[in-house]
Formats: sequence, structure tokens, C-alpha cells
Amino acid sequence: MSAVPALGDEPRHGLRHLAIIMDGNGRWAKRRHMPRVLGHQRGVEAVRRTVRAAAELGLSALTLYAFSTENWRRPEDEVSALMGLLKHFILSDLDEFAANNIRLKIIGDTSAFSSEIIGLIDHARSRTADNTGMVMTVALNYGSQDEIARAARAAAAKGEITAEAISAELDTADLPPLDLIIRTSGEVRLSNFLMWQAAYAEMLFLDVLWPDFGREHLEAAIEEYARRERRFGGR
Ligand code: FPP
Repeated sequence: MSAVPALGDEPRHGLRHLAIIMDGNGRWAKRRHMPRVLGHQRGVEAVRRTVRAAAELGLSALTLYAFSTENWRRPEDEVSALMGLLKHFILSDLDEFAANNIRLKIIGDTSAFSSEIIGLIDHARSRTADNTGMVMTVALNYGSQDEIARAARAAAAKGEITAEAISAELDTADLPPLDLIIRTSGEVRLSNFLMWQAAYAEMLFLDVLWPDFGREHLEAAIEEYARRERRFGGR
């Protein structure tokens, strides 16, 4: 991996904060008559490729939807396989993150996870806490409506329910504004992900299934983003 730019070095393409809804692992596996878990395994490899490429391309923040509040409804063996993959990912990739100045951030309610995973997450967070390069945020047991409700309560407790006050209480308040959301697999929904933050974000819905996503898709998405004229409601 080449040198990772520090936060604040604005890349020429202007994309600072990208979020991805990583969809299509199950369909990728089904098309190959493989168990869904294999699709998730390949999905983790796509995560690895994407984190490396995003850091090298100069993004400040990459936010990935790894586990939604609704994903608990999946069969128990699939949920536990996803937990195992998450654990393995942290254990095997933490050194590379740390070496490449990447800071790991988690959004969502992780209290429902096993104490082993909570411990690993805390360790990964504290080990990368002082890193100044790209922030990789993983959304775990995350739901946007829940986040907005929590932020509104926190703003109300401070006596000011304005859009700015609510924004300042969101889990993503320390990240740059969201520029682009990508959803893979052809589905055209936000599925309770970053709905407040998406107010002015560009959106890109790609037909590629998540396990097939790679650097070339990210580069094409960045080019598409750079072509779009962002007016933020103005003219
Ligand atoms: C959507 O595919 C994907 C998920 C619900 C999980 C995403 C998780 C990973 C890529 C791996 C773990 C993440 C990290 C950061 C290590 P789907 O199963 O809904 O696919 P389908 O719609 O085709 O069934």
C-alpha cells in the first residue's frame, strides 16, 4: 500500500466522505450454488480491497454498512458467521490499518454483541485512535432512525432542537459531510442507513454484486462523482 494522505489534504476529485451499502453477497453465492456464508467471505475481501483503494485515492472517510439492526432477523448460523468474519477481519487487518494511519470508528449499538467482539472492537479503536489518515467507519447494529432519535434527544437535553444541533449529536458528527453513497447489487433503497447525512449526498446504485466490487468500480464512482454538479439546493 502506498503512502496514505493525511486528513485535510483535499484530493483533486473532491470526494472526501464515501459511504457504501455492501449488498449482494447472498446472490453472489446463490449464482454459484454456494452457501451464503461464502458470499460474505468474498464480501470481506471486497472490503479489504476497497479500504486499501479508498485510502490510496485520498478519501478522508469511508463508512461501510456491515450489519443493520434488521440483520438479526437472519438465520442464527448466518448471523454467527458474520460475527466470525468481523472478528477475523479485525484480527487479521488491524496491523495494516495501524501501519497505514487509518483510524477505525464504529457506529451503532454494539452492546448486543459478544463480549469478545466488544473487546476486539475497543482494542482496534484505541490502537488506531491517534491515526490521522482515513477514518474507516463500520456501521454495526446501526439504524439511522434510531441514530436520529438519539441525536434529537441529546439536542433537546441541551435545549436546542435545530438541524445544526441535531447534526452535531449524530454518530458521524466528527466526520466530513457525506458526499456520496454507493449501493451495490442493483437495489435502490437506503435501508435505514445515514438518512440524515444523505440529505445532500450524491447517490450511485451499481449493478455489481458486493463480492465483485473492486478498485476499478471505486475509481469509476469517483469519476462519476467528480462529473456531478453539486448545488446543495442552490442554483
Ligand atoms: C448484504 O448482502 C451484506 C451484508 C448483510 C453483510 C455485509 C458484511 C460483509 C461484507 C462482511 C463483514 C464486514 C466487515 C467490515 C468485515 P446480502 O446477504 O443481503 O445479499 P443478498 O441481498 O444478495 O442476499
